[in-house]
Amino acid sequence: MTPASALALDVAQLRVRRGHHEVLGALTFAVTPGELVGLLGPSGSGKSTLMRTLLGLQAITSGTARVLGERAGSPGLRRRIGYMAQGSAIYPDLSVLENLTYFSGVLGLDAAEASRVMDLVDLRRHAARLVATLSGGERSRVSLAVALLGDPPLLILDEPTVGLDPVLRQDIWATLTHVAESGATVLVSSHVMDEAARCARLLLIREGRLLLDDTPAALLQRTGARGYDEAFVRLITATS
Ligand SMILES: Nc1ncnc2c1ncn2[C@@H]1O[C@H](COP(=O)(O)OP(=O)(O)OP(=O)(O)O)[C@@H](O)[C@H]1O
Ligand SMILES: [Mg+2]
Repeated sequence: MTPASALALDVAQLRVRRGHHEVLGALTFAVTPGELVGLLGPSGSGKSTLMRTLLGLQAITSGTARVLGERAGSPGLRRRIGYMAQGSAIYPDLSVLENLTYFSGVLGLDAAEASRVMDLVDLRRHAARLVATLSGGERSRVSLAVALLGDPPLLILDEPTVGLDPVLRQDIWATLTHVAESGATVLVSSHVMDEAARCARLLLIREGRLLLDDTPAALLQRTGARGYDEAFVRLITATS
């Protein structure tokens, strides 16, 4: 077993309330460095809330969340996590390269880093285009590039492939697989069950509770389903 201090994520009995509603209920899981983990669940199941908690943006009601060996939200973690929020956090009135150069400056990195991440998401030919003139998929890739700045050991990506066509989705998953293979831990959410196939490991949540923590192959085998949508429905039926 990996010692707790070497885990990328170590979440135990985590509960989070928002308003009067318990959004996360007693979640427990651990992730080792270099894993590509899909956080899957229907809309409203608590994916963004869990990610916000890991980033220290969401108060914990009870339980613990440790990230790269520190308590979630510790100041020392800021530079070590690349985050892509759901919805765009880039400037529409700046070009692709200007956005990346601006965010590298904020992180204290040099301009070569902007250029490196632009290649990782294959946007060099759009370097001078204003973000406002890009397609939705191109904009998502700029946001992903911002998260990749500085080569952080942990990436938390909230639905980076939402609304993208299958080819672009495949490109983004290939980039994430490459990043994980080079040692970074990647936690990526989606409400599209078919994306399960891309992950080495799945955390499936529903109404803030963990339904499954296993490989995609094990999910299909356990439910006897042919596809991931069907597997998810069978899992819900079996557990409710
Ligand atoms: N500020 C808030 N106060 C009360 N409840 C909230 C608040 N923000 C979110 N919620 C509720 O918490 C639950 C989980 O929301 P969350 O955004 O984490 O879901 P999600 O899995 O990311 O969904 P989606 O796939 O649509 O992005 C939802 O029922 C949502 O309505
Ligand atoms: Mg969400």
